[in-house]
Amino acid sequence: MTKVSFLLNGDPVRLENASPTTTLLDWLREERQLTGTKEGCNEGDCGACTVMVSDARGSRAVNACILLLPQLDGKAVRTVEGIAGPDGSLHPVQQAMIDHHASQCGFCTPGFVVSLAVAHKTGRRDYDDVLAGNLCRCTGYAPILRAAHAASGAPVPDWMEDDPARLSPAGGGNDAFLPDTADALAAWYLENPDATLVGGATDVGLWITKRLQKPEKLAFLAAVEDLRQIEIGEGEIRVGAAVTVAEFAAAIAPIHPSLGELLRRFGSLQVRNAGTVGGNIANGSPIGDSPPALIALGARLHLRRGDQRRDMPLEDFFIAYGKQDRARGEFVEAVSIPRQPDRLKCYKLSKRFDQDISAVCGCFSIRVDGGKVASARIAFGGMAATPRRAAAVEAALIAKPWTKATIQAGMEAFAQDFSPLSDMRASARYRLDAARNMLMRYYLEDIGTPANVLEAKP
Ligand SMILES: Cc1cc2nc3c(=O)[nH]c(=O)nc-3n(C[C@H](O)[C@H](O)[C@H](O)COP(=O)(O)OP(=O)(O)OC[C@H]3O[C@@H](n4cnc5c(N)ncnc54)[C@H](O)[C@@H]3O)c2cc1C
Ligand code: FES
Ligand code: FES
Repeated sequence: MTKVSFLLNGDPVRLENASPTTTLLDWLREERQLTGTKEGCNEGDCGACTVMVSDARGSRAVNACILLLPQLDGKAVRTVEGIAGPDGSLHPVQQAMIDHHASQCGFCTPGFVVSLAVAHKTGRRDYDDVLAGNLCRCTGYAPILRAAHAASGAPVPDWMEDDPARLSPAGGGNDAFLPDTADALAAWYLENPDATLVGGATDVGLWITKRLQKPEKLAFLAAVEDLRQIEIGEGEIRVGAAVTVAEFAAAIAPIHPSLGELLRRFGSLQVRNAGTVGGNIANGSPIGDSPPALIALGARLHLRRGDQRRDMPLEDFFIAYGKQDRARGEFVEAVSIPRQPDRLKCYKLSKRFDQDISAVCGCFSIRVDGGKVASARIAFGGMAATPRRAAAVEAALIAKPWTKATIQAGMEAFAQDFSPLSDMRASARYRLDAARNMLMRYYLEDIGTPANVLEAKP
């Protein structure tokens, strides 16, 4: 059993016997009768369960339905009940939601209020992104956005600040290991290779809520400071495995803007605030969004087992569906990206623009020198059982003139690289056509023909 300590709506909570697989949502509703936080999908998709989590790094919105209790150790949580003041006075966002008629059935409202209260506290006004993970079925978004804008100028109420000095971790227990160094994690994982590593639990949480699994021994990486670093050096950018997708997006957007834009469409803000770069690679998903981009940038993956470290080109990590080059007791420590002039373009195709998994994700980094293709790195998600490079397409381009005819030859070569599947997201034919067209789009954008799908007109 696990010890966990956190502040809940300003009051200290210390659990001596928590189950490490209990979600915050279940605990709030069942143990504390704090039923303002709603259960909609129970899989991170709807935002009805949004809560605010704060620590020394600041405040962020996360989904309580896929947040496990040990992830809160040493942090402060505010639910919708703690967004209003202790004397019952409304938060400016709540008042604005009333004034602008931004709630009908009200089921989604607590989640919207918390997401907007976090944005209000952190000074964000990009409400389309802030609210992309909050689903409303009946009010419609216009009144909610009006409320958000109306509240934006009001001061942040005092009660929204949780004093970091009052946060003290309880340290987990024998079924939930909460290390604070990578050395401690490495030693423990070598002894406990059957344990489940948890980055942000945006996958592991669904094993629990949807597949009804109960992993018995877990190690949580969120407090491992040396896995949480982003080092932007002259030769490379090194990103620790436990860096969240939101943190990675903020750091990489000024350097490789197209990757920043891809990550803006990765899940929702709540998912990006929890999910990690290491988890997105280690899960081996053929449709994860960061691997194709990182492969196109020539990234290397850094693995560690006990005191032994090795690294490899990221593409070599993905052996087959569900099979990665990772030994028992070995974990992802970091991924490093060589510094290079920015030639990266990432194209994510999904049924919805926001908060959707890719049907096809194509990432291209093609360098042209003296009118000829000097180098080409092209990688895809959604086209094979693993994220994969398009070796035949790259070969068809390299050393050829940078012309439409070369691109057309490259498009022909796609069938040598990929035989995609048909599934609920897309048919094989659609995937192949879309992938080919992404190469043409890269070329057209490069020669100055705008191809922004957001500006498409009928
Ligand atoms: C609603 C929703 C939307 C999503 N949208 C997207 C999307 O648009 N694009 C996308 O790519 N993904 C998406 N995902 C999937 C998921 O959020 C990402 O894959 C995320 O990066 C996983 O990271 P995590 O830290 O939460 O992983 P976890 O759930 O903590 O772990 C995932 C797996 O990786 C292992 N693991 C974690 N860290 C390490 C490590 N350092 N070393 C070795 N193994 C490790 C775990 O043991 C587990 O097997 C979505 C998920 C949800 C719930
Ligand atoms: S209940 Fe839908 S995101 Fe948590
Ligand atoms: S008000 Fe009904 S779902 Fe949003």
